[in-house]
Amino acid sequence: MTVKPDLRALRDALVADLRARDVLHDAAVADALATVPRHLFLPGVPPAEAYVDEAVVTRRDAEGTATSSSSQPAIMAIMLEQLDVRPGHRVLEIGAGTGYNAALLAHLVGPAGSVTTIDLQPDVADAALAALAAAGYGQVRVVCGDGALGVPDGAPYDRMIVTAGAWDLPPAWFEQLAVDGRLVVPFDLRGVMRSIAFERLGPDGSAGGPAGPRWRSRSAHTCGFMPLRGLAAGPGRRLRIGEGDAGVSLSVDGEREIDADRLAAALTAPPVEFATGLDLTTPQLVDGLFCWLALTEPDSCGLHAGAEAVERGPVEFPVVYGGPSGPSAAIGSGLVAGASAALLARPRTEDRSAVAPLVVRGYGVDGSALATRLVAAARAWHDAGRPGSADMRVEVLPLPEGAGDGADDTGAYDGRYVVDKRYVRVLVSWPRTAASSRCR
Ligand SMILES: C[S@@+](CC[C@H](N)C(=O)[O-])C[C@H]1O[C@@H](n2cnc3c(N)ncnc32)[C@H](O)[C@@H]1O
Repeated sequence: MTVKPDLRALRDALVADLRARDVLHDAAVADALATVPRHLFLPGVPPAEAYVDEAVVTRRDAEGTATSSSSQPAIMAIMLEQLDVRPGHRVLEIGAGTGYNAALLAHLVGPAGSVTTIDLQPDVADAALAALAAAGYGQVRVVCGDGALGVPDGAPYDRMIVTAGAWDLPPAWFEQLAVDGRLVVPFDLRGVMRSIAFERLGPDGSAGGPAGPRWRSRSAHTCGFMPLRGLAAGPGRRLRIGEGDAGVSLSVDGEREIDADRLAAALTAPPVEFATGLDLTTPQLVDGLFCWLALTEPDSCGLHAGAEAVERGPVEFPVVYGGPSGPSAAIGSGLVAGASAALLARPRTEDRSAVAPLVVRGYGVDGSALATRLVAAARAWHDAGRPGSADMRVEVLPLPEGAGDGADDTGAYDGRYVVDKRYVRVLVSWPRTAASSRCR
């Protein structure tokens, strides 16, 4: 295969940029990124654009929702470092997409290893297979199916990586992973997503208590992925607040009574505003406080908006993304109950490292009470040392019998926050803090 020198130079520049931003550290991952021709996995995209550090959407459904993409190289590098792939490993990827990450994995495992990748969409799997062959990675096995079931006939795998957001950890992943294996997965924790590297707690998963998976995290990083669909799809709800492009969407976990129409009206009335006394950067908010609220506050919500809503929508967002041509999207967080809400707000800044004062705005009849709670939660996060993903510990245990039916065994998990899924119980802690609560 001939590699045009200018494309090799673009790959080297991408690697240098990721290193300079402290995203990429591992020499083997850097070599894979410098070698594998991403442009061959993105037909229709001008080759030079394939080496910009951006995600590229490759499929959308009838409503325009993205259903497949090549992920942003920065998060791919972070996740490959979390995965710690070695030559000779047997690797399973769930979410083949374009096939580019599978090619990076094939480069990392070398001729003695093997890579299997699975995608739910037949046309996506076919395109990945063709691109892998064209790029010289025809040895990768591409399967079409639901990754929630894994790919049993290649198990056990030394490494498993999921490249779409998982709301739960299906039993097949645990069963198909080698005893000393590692799983890296973008995991949804009450609406916030963290790429978590998991290893088994005990060698056979039966170190006392109910039988089943027992995993613990080695590392966690902030990330954003389209959700897994099919058997692994989560029950998370997104409510549309307001009309058209200027509307915002509200994500909430679990069954909660929210009156979207009355809330939309409440958001157009002048709010009550409270200072938090905290000055924060964008990463401190996104990586730290948003996650803290999701796990410690049962009424937490996430807020998402497109460019129109940033300019003309009802509320101001604490985090706005965009470039020289203007805002492209925004995210926020707060508490919501019934037709009332309390939301975090901050003066808009393009500079991610700039500190800006954080305020809380209350909307609706209970807005003031929710805002008071939100200020207290933000201050508790600050008093706990402003913990973020790097400080986070996640343990996964079998779901106790009766959980999800109103059982309340919070006391058994002192100092850890509990999130129950369909298959597993998740315990999250920031070891520097001492509080404990049951979230759902
Ligand atoms: C962000 S893309 C993956 C990017 C890919 N790793 C790459 O290098 O281009 C997510 C992919 O997950 C796939 N997916 C979603 N749900 C799935 C499931 N239950 N099983 C397998 N694949 C799934 C989607 O079809 C989509 O192609």
